[in-house]
Amino acid sequence: MNNIRLGVNIDHVATVRNARGEKYPSPLRAAILAEKCGADSVTIHLREDRRHIIDQDLSAIRSKLKIPLNLEIAATNEMLKIALKHKPSFICIVPEKRKEITTEGGLNLNFKKEFLKEIIYKLKKNNSRVSLFIEPKQSDIKKAKLLNADCVEIHTGKFCTLINEKKSFKNELDKIKKAVTLGNSIGLEVHAGHGLTYKSAKILSKTKGIKEFNIGHFLVGESIFVGLSETINQFKKIIK
Ligand code: PXP
Repeated sequence: MNNIRLGVNIDHVATVRNARGEKYPSPLRAAILAEKCGADSVTIHLREDRRHIIDQDLSAIRSKLKIPLNLEIAATNEMLKIALKHKPSFICIVPEKRKEITTEGGLNLNFKKEFLKEIIYKLKKNNSRVSLFIEPKQSDIKKAKLLNADCVEIHTGKFCTLINEKKSFKNELDKIKKAVTLGNSIGLEVHAGHGLTYKSAKILSKTKGIKEFNIGHFLVGESIFVGLSETINQFKKIIK
């Protein structure tokens, strides 16, 4: 029993809504339902181009949700201002490229180091828990600690793709395990996310020391067939 917390990412409820420029399906409704179904937190990524979650979603979800809201943002002045205003319980700083389909890799912790440090300081002072989305690299774990982050979220995209393609994932899993061990040993809370499915979540949940999974695309997709409640229940059973 690792009792990993489940963060439910509802960005793609907004993707479906925006595809038709309508007001439905509602990300707020999904957030409240996720809460009711046992999600431990709800994650939304306010992207610079607002391709899925928009500012009104953030305001609405922030005011109605009782479990922690995890806001994913890029390290920019605009996003810092928004995060300071809304004070979500959790913040995860992610890299962002306009043309990418999804967050392609972890943060480059050598780039804009002083700015990152300043953002982390300000967000923590504002009472948000701050996490950095990074690759499973020992050097990045150490850098995250030096930047004074509370947590790191390990990008599991590569690991999940190898599983989906039925290729050997042992090396990638070893990298993740080493990153988790190092992170825990220097006092970082370690999370994992990106590309997780029932299968990859089950394999990864056996790794001791991971405290939280953030799962979106597969979870929202699966909900089309069996409902959000059933999908959340399945994930919770798998990662307990
Ligand atoms: N964690 C972070 C930091 C992310 O950026 C994303 C994707 O938005 C996820 C988790 C969830 O990834 P997926 O939608 O592939 O489950």
